[in-house]
Amino acid sequence: MALDQDFWNQRNVEQQTGWDLGEASPPLVAIFDQIENKNASILIPGCGNAYEAQYLLEKGFTNITLIDIAPLLVKELQEQFVGNKHIHIICADFFDLEGQFDYIIEQTFFCALDPSLRKAYVDKMHSLLNPQGILTGVMFSQPFEIEGPPFGGTQEEYERLFADQFILNFSASAHSIPARQGHELKAVLTKR
Ligand SMILES: C[S@@+](CC[C@H](N)C(=O)[O-])C[C@H]1O[C@@H](n2cnc3c(N)ncnc32)[C@H](O)[C@@H]1O
Repeated sequence: MALDQDFWNQRNVEQQTGWDLGEASPPLVAIFDQIENKNASILIPGCGNAYEAQYLLEKGFTNITLIDIAPLLVKELQEQFVGNKHIHIICADFFDLEGQFDYIIEQTFFCALDPSLRKAYVDKMHSLLNPQGILTGVMFSQPFEIEGPPFGGTQEEYERLFADQFILNFSASAHSIPARQGHELKAVLTKR
């Protein structure tokens, strides 16, 4: 099964979006609340319904970029945020994105990708960050028995993947929603 544009678009058409929290994700909100520079450039890849973007706007952030591969979803986001100069919305494959950001936000995007792409994900994240830029968010802390997506993983695997290019800080996620409590790691990965 190819996890391509058609796959993700169809998941939205059929409303098979079990990952969707319906609100800004509490662990991400806690991360945003620690960012003092409201003009920091923030990328949310595989953004889904991007409730976090509304939260960022309300907090005064001015430079938010959303990217998702699913056209239907992106069209709805473009309608929702039409005319808002603080949000850039892109319909494309993350791996084709060019740019430089201070923060990149991870939530159920890494786990949505075929695991064969994990090294490419790490390389792409590194190339998209400014010097000392930060990739931060939450990642599942265990493998799943059922074939993904989502594809889980372990902290040990993530450490092996990211260590060469990032300064690592993984910890238990204190703000996860109840269904994910104990199953998520908070990641704060600073570009070397
Ligand atoms: C599991 S959903 C998570 C959405 C959102 N991060 C959330 O937590 O609600 C994965 C999202 O990544 C998008 N996606 C998958 N592969 C992608 C790619 N290569 N480039 C950009 N977006 C992608 C999908 O369309 C989908 O919206």
